[in-house]
Amino acid sequence: MSAARPQRPFDTAVVAARDRENVIVGNEIVRHRLVSRVIHWSVAVTFFVCVFTGMPIWTPVFGWMAHLFGGLTVCRLLHPWAGVAFFLASGIMFVHWIGDMRLEPGDREWLGPKAFAYMRYETEDTDIGKYNGGQRLFFWAAGLGAIGLLLSGLLMWFPRAFPPLLLEFAYLIHDVTFILFAVAIVFHIYLGTAAEPGTFGSMVRGTVTREWARLHHPRWYRDVISGEEDRRR
Ligand code: HEM
Repeated sequence: MSAARPQRPFDTAVVAARDRENVIVGNEIVRHRLVSRVIHWSVAVTFFVCVFTGMPIWTPVFGWMAHLFGGLTVCRLLHPWAGVAFFLASGIMFVHWIGDMRLEPGDREWLGPKAFAYMRYETEDTDIGKYNGGQRLFFWAAGLGAIGLLLSGLLMWFPRAFPPLLLEFAYLIHDVTFILFAVAIVFHIYLGTAAEPGTFGSMVRGTVTREWARLHHPRWYRDVISGEEDRRR
């Protein structure tokens, strides 16, 4: 006689987050549906493969990273293809999120004091929608950065096809874009994890709590409550 299998609790929020967004399920709100999360993590994984295969090519100081992939020769082979994969994933992410990332009047302020006030938890803006101005600017900067890295990378991949001066310029663009990207990603990861507890869950489980939404994205919270976000889609 076989024992009856214990019933596993049915996680309605996670099920809803497979294909729905901006909906309330119990005390949670679905923020990123499954496809958004898969796209985002594809960008993140390909980005870090680029970082760890590219840095040992850049300088021997990071030579130890090459061991993660089987040596410098493998890194030299893998890096350009990882770069192409990163660009493709970024392109898909760009198209997928562009509707939510249209810049609003006042977003420019996030380039200055507003960003610092935000980092010090000093902003009390009740008009923040699904993404704040800083997130929208980061989205556009990441798109621009991906194009810069691809174009300069292609020149470096096929050096004999281009004049030496253009190649020098490509090296400069690739290095500067990478450094700016790396700094931005450090802030992005900090804000998405330690600085704002509950945010990382939105990219793993797909959901946030109502309290999180009311605190960080009050206009989005109001829109979701009134069902407006759904009607807009
Ligand atoms: C381990 C690395 C990463 C972590 C932990 C992380 C975390 C997150 C989280 C939690 C969100 C959701 C924020 C929200 O819903 O408000 C998010 C959104 C986003 N991520 Fe990442 N991310 C990582 C890597 C990357 C990389 C490498 C890129 C691009 C190259 C990227 C681009 C974006 C963009 C454009 C958004 C939407 C705008 C924003 O929230 O800033 N992420 N990320």
